[in-house]
Amino acid sequence: MDAGCRRLAAKSALITGGGSGVGRSTAIRFAQEGASTIGLLDRDAEALERVAGEVRDLGASVLTFATDVTSRPACQAAADAIVASSGGLDILVSNAGADGDAPFLEMTDEEWNRVIAINLTASFVLGQIAARAMVAAGRGGVILYTASISGMGASDGDAHYGVSKAGIINLVQTMAIELIGHRIRVNCVSPGPLDTPLSRALLGSDEAMEAARAHYPLVPMGRLGLPEEIAAAYAYLASSDAGYTTGQNLIIDGGNHATVFINPQGSF
Ligand SMILES: NC(=O)c1ccc[n+]([C@@H]2O[C@H](COP(=O)([O-])OP(=O)(O)OC[C@H]3O[C@@H](n4cnc5c(N)ncnc54)[C@H](O)[C@@H]3O)[C@@H](O)[C@H]2O)c1
Repeated sequence: MDAGCRRLAAKSALITGGGSGVGRSTAIRFAQEGASTIGLLDRDAEALERVAGEVRDLGASVLTFATDVTSRPACQAAADAIVASSGGLDILVSNAGADGDAPFLEMTDEEWNRVIAINLTASFVLGQIAARAMVAAGRGGVILYTASISGMGASDGDAHYGVSKAGIINLVQTMAIELIGHRIRVNCVSPGPLDTPLSRALLGSDEAMEAARAHYPLVPMGRLGLPEEIAAAYAYLASSDAGYTTGQNLIIDGGNHATVFINPQGSF
């Protein structure tokens, strides 16, 4: 992190999926940037407490919510608790996400509905709860989402996931325009393949993860992204440095999406 950057001084934030990967790195980065109150929401209570400890060590006040993003009452209670403790909610990072692996011809309604509920419906619900809190406080705000490059093209076995992320990218555009009069900016980040526990769980083992590094020849940088590299983008988008930026989808993928054909050896 650039020394002396405290662009989020005195801000309050709610980060979902805060117990791991991108959410954890974002909480740490926000604390380093001076955020005063950070709410971490995750269904993994143990992971949540571990990250809460790391973030408190950086000087932020931390609230934890061990719950599922698919519960509107639980998300509302989390937002209410942050407003009660800090006078308002300045930043939402709606980041918790679920993946799955089901070929289109075999995908069940249950698999489809599970991924859409966690990734897309919860994004709508959380965004609405946060926006209402921001409008009530009258001090503007920032709403950020983790989409994916899977929302901009095909990933086999991932129809539900891709559609959920495409939905977020479009939701961001509509929210950005509808909320502009309330000084609420809305943006999303679309990561390419990252080195996080989500990817490790999908690939099954550290050995499979190593094999995957070689399996990503379409990433011109030749490596997986780091959660800290997504957190850095969130710190920028949450800050007044991005004061004229709304309705955008920032792609962070090591050059993947800029590519049509590349030589796996790295040069044409
Ligand atoms: N890892 C990648 O390669 C990659 C690429 C593009 C986008 N993304 C997106 O980034 C986001 C974060 O993923 P990550 O890689 O940091 O994963 P991760 O598994 O490291 O972290 C996700 C966290 O979200 C929590 N979570 C999942 N479902 C939840 C639910 N229903 N309610 C509450 N908490 C829940 C998990 O407990 C976990 O702590 C996701 O939206 C994912 O789709 C990841």
